[in-house]
Amino acid sequence: MDNKKAKVAVFVSGGGTNLQAIIDARDAGKLPHVELALVISDVKDAYALTRAEKAGIETKVVERNDGREAFEKAILDILFEKEIDLIVLAGFMRILSADFTSHFPERMINVHPSLIPSFCGKGFYGLRVHEAALSYGVKVSGATVHFVNEIPDGGRIIMQKAVEVKDGDTPEILQRRIMEEAEWKILPASLEKVAKEYVEK
Ligand code: GAR
Repeated sequence: MDNKKAKVAVFVSGGGTNLQAIIDARDAGKLPHVELALVISDVKDAYALTRAEKAGIETKVVERNDGREAFEKAILDILFEKEIDLIVLAGFMRILSADFTSHFPERMINVHPSLIPSFCGKGFYGLRVHEAALSYGVKVSGATVHFVNEIPDGGRIIMQKAVEVKDGDTPEILQRRIMEEAEWKILPASLEKVAKEYVEK
């Protein structure tokens, strides 16, 4: 008999390489406790949506036109209607309010492209994280997967992986190395860990 699976929604805003890593892990049989039920984007032409469609996953676009409350309510309505258990923020470039995060305590995870607590919090997203790491001169960076709470990048850490910073790195080169060596590995692995614990509790 098939084991129980958690219904998962993945939130995206851009290229979706982390979403792709999750899809590839599912297709390789590495996410036995995960049902990829939905992908939500706040950007209507995000390439991540194309990746989801190719993988046969339902997609929804919710743009932030009328302020935070309406935006978050529109998302919550969809999540409740679809009976979503867990949320993955995979390159989602909006900070969600405490009102929102309180609906999913330790049921929402995020991938951040640094070793938290370095280079994280408000204003640190995407390439800006790697620009900050390079200008500080750190020799090691990496990625973190953590639970999402009301503090940006402040929830309990699930997994981290260190990645070497090399001479001559640009923000783009460092970003790519951190994705390949860390994010694309620890995000699917963390998702399976959290989903397994969720369905077995
Ligand atoms: C990833 O590096 C992710 O860690 C980062 O944005 C990129 C999205 O790439 N997220 C943040 O900075 C969130 N604070 P992707 O769309 O190809 O997955």
